[in-house]
Amino acid sequence: MKVKLAFIGCGGITRSHLEQGLKEFEDVQFVGWCDVNEKAAIARREQAGGRGEVYTDARRMLDEAKPDAVYIMLPPFAHGPAEQLAIERGIPFFVEKPVAKDLDTALRVAEGVERHNLITSVGYMNRYRRSVRRVRELLEGRKPVIMHGGWLGGGPAKYEGIWRWWVQKDKSGGQFLEQTTHTIDLARHLFGEVEEIYAVPVRDRLPRPDFFTIEDASMVQMSFVNGAAANLYSSCCTSVGGGISLTLWATDMKAEFTGWEHSVRIYLPGDEQITIPGEPNVFALEDRAFIDSVKAGEDRGILATYEDGLKAVAIACAADESMRTGKAVEVKV
Ligand SMILES: NC(=O)c1ccc[n+]([C@@H]2O[C@H](COP(=O)([O-])OP(=O)(O)OC[C@H]3O[C@@H](n4cnc5c(N)ncnc54)[C@H](O)[C@@H]3O)[C@@H](O)[C@H]2O)c1
Repeated sequence: MKVKLAFIGCGGITRSHLEQGLKEFEDVQFVGWCDVNEKAAIARREQAGGRGEVYTDARRMLDEAKPDAVYIMLPPFAHGPAEQLAIERGIPFFVEKPVAKDLDTALRVAEGVERHNLITSVGYMNRYRRSVRRVRELLEGRKPVIMHGGWLGGGPAKYEGIWRWWVQKDKSGGQFLEQTTHTIDLARHLFGEVEEIYAVPVRDRLPRPDFFTIEDASMVQMSFVNGAAANLYSSCCTSVGGGISLTLWATDMKAEFTGWEHSVRIYLPGDEQITIPGEPNVFALEDRAFIDSVKAGEDRGILATYEDGLKAVAIACAADESMRTGKAVEVKV
């Protein structure tokens, strides 16, 4: 059986999924490419060997192309309507992170997903890495203590493409919600549910254009239900010495993830050390799990569902409220 696949949003991340493997899946049939910018949809169709029809209206695409599953690859501000169209038609969907920029949208979609018992997958690809799986195994039966990490960089050099919407708070939700969401998700995945957040914004570090409305940086303190704690940082104004990282300690263990690939060095008692390099191509792993699940009509190895997407949004929105009010905020979802 071939899975008939359609896409809503045909920008950079759709290109990455295709080129990192999805294009070559023999059990996938591309039936539709939808983007409000028709040129983007045409470009993705070409990338996939000219298979499938081009649309600028998602409703029309779902009704005409009748996909078995849909990839929703939209910027944070555009979520909601596409998911509702999929839910109304009972179509399983893969959605890129973050699943929304506000909690109301994510809650509404989560409710629809649950009501229709839909298969969903969220693009938290790091969960599929060998490094993350190993650390998660080792944490079982150990007490988590503290972690720190995040995404640090110098920010966009030019305000073009994604960087135009990314720097607008009402469009992207800010760096913590949009980018550090990967680390928020790993924090939950490895340490458990988050109870309370206290967040501090950093602003006015660099001259910026008027439309640049996100924080320059932030520090987010998180308390877990099990009593552990984390500090996650984001910065788009520090051009030297940054990168992606996550370091955590359990009572007799340390793990140090570095880089986009999340290579890890694990330290255990008795001077034991384990090093696991991160896979350069990880999108294909999460895509395989999603397609296998759609074919089977039940979960076949999806590691992050819409509920995980909702919880990451809830944490980011609590951090946002804390930055606005200066108070600690309880995470309610
Ligand atoms: N998992 C990852 O590591 C990863 C990496 C990059 C991007 N992403 C996420 O993927 C999402 C999309 O990012 P991108 O880099 O592809 O952005 P992009 O700007 O390159 O592409 C988004 C596309 O969506 C289209 N679009 C906007 N509103 C639409 C609507 N209502 N209907 C149909 N099309 C619409 C735009 O025209 C554009 O072509 C973001 O949330 C981003 O965080 C995830």
